[in-house]
Amino acid sequence: MVQIINSIKEAAYELGQGNVISIPTETVYGLAADAENQQAVNKVFSIKKRPANHPLIIHVSDIQMAERYSVDIPEYAYRLMKEFWPGPLTFVLKKSNITGSYVTGGQDTVAIRAPKHHVCRDLIQSYGKGLVAPSANLYGHISTTTSEHVTNEFNDEFNYVLEGGACEIGIESTIIDATQDSYFNILRHGVISKQQLEKASCGIPCQDNRNDELRVSGDKLSHYAPNKPVHVLESSQISKINYNLDKVLLIIPSDQREQYFHLNVMMETYQNQAELAANLYSWLRKGEVSFDYTIIQRLPLESDWDALRDRIKKAAYKYTGQLLNYM
Ligand code: TXA
Ligand code: MG
Repeated sequence: MVQIINSIKEAAYELGQGNVISIPTETVYGLAADAENQQAVNKVFSIKKRPANHPLIIHVSDIQMAERYSVDIPEYAYRLMKEFWPGPLTFVLKKSNITGSYVTGGQDTVAIRAPKHHVCRDLIQSYGKGLVAPSANLYGHISTTTSEHVTNEFNDEFNYVLEGGACEIGIESTIIDATQDSYFNILRHGVISKQQLEKASCGIPCQDNRNDELRVSGDKLSHYAPNKPVHVLESSQISKINYNLDKVLLIIPSDQREQYFHLNVMMETYQNQAELAANLYSWLRKGEVSFDYTIIQRLPLESDWDALRDRIKKAAYKYTGQLLNYM
């Protein structure tokens, strides 16, 4: 079984031995290895069961360390790093010679971010090198936001998860393609929004369309997916389901709780985007373990819900079109 540890020294020692450990970040837990050790990086791919051509993010402590792994960083990208690092923003940049193609899935670009979580920062600083870290979940499954999720997700494929408490943000970082000088692209939505990015980039425009040459595994149609069904429904549909046949978990805004009180369901509620993000993966995991299926009330279409709509759409994708028992 994967053991939970608190010692940064022990975690750094394990990394130095070429082993994989799970680490906390402010977004989700990661599955970390020394970014400059090919064998260690290969272990990450095999533990996660991730195809080798899906590139990993290198986690650094600061801009200086980012310059070790990338070249030709545009001026606006420096501005964005100064504004949002450490924090949940990942840059795709041209890779340096130090960055192995075993990290980048053979591409000449590399994804880099400086996480904010203090345990993670202390670890990277004390280790002194970048760490690759995809989210600490099996490929395609729900990401992990507590050390307990990690120990549930894996058996004994690696030794340790470094304790960092529940992840404050709860969904993965925003990823931008910053390989062009005159504009940049959002590749994955996160809590840092297009509006915030454009404000800080001082006139360099931010596009929100995917560059098809770049591979972003989070962009698969099904992702973040539980092994039990997830359905996204309008409130009018939610009221019509026959809840006496199944055990159902219902995820809704807290101000709508009363209209569902009479239903035979377990409810989880949120007041805003941040609260839903912080709890979403825990609730999806709970739905998978203890319920027949999970229903999530459809989210608003406004852009500040984009990142959450994206995660929920992908979590539900495999199950769309499945019939529910209506009354
Ligand atoms: O918040 C996060 O970003 C978390 C924490 C652990 O830092 N990490 C994370 O890693 O979500 P992962 O591997 O699950 O997702 C990284 C995404 C993948 O979709 C990958 O394809 C994309 O980043 N990516 C990595 N390198 C890239 C590159 N050179 N070009 C385009 N996309 C890239
Ligand atoms: Mg992931």
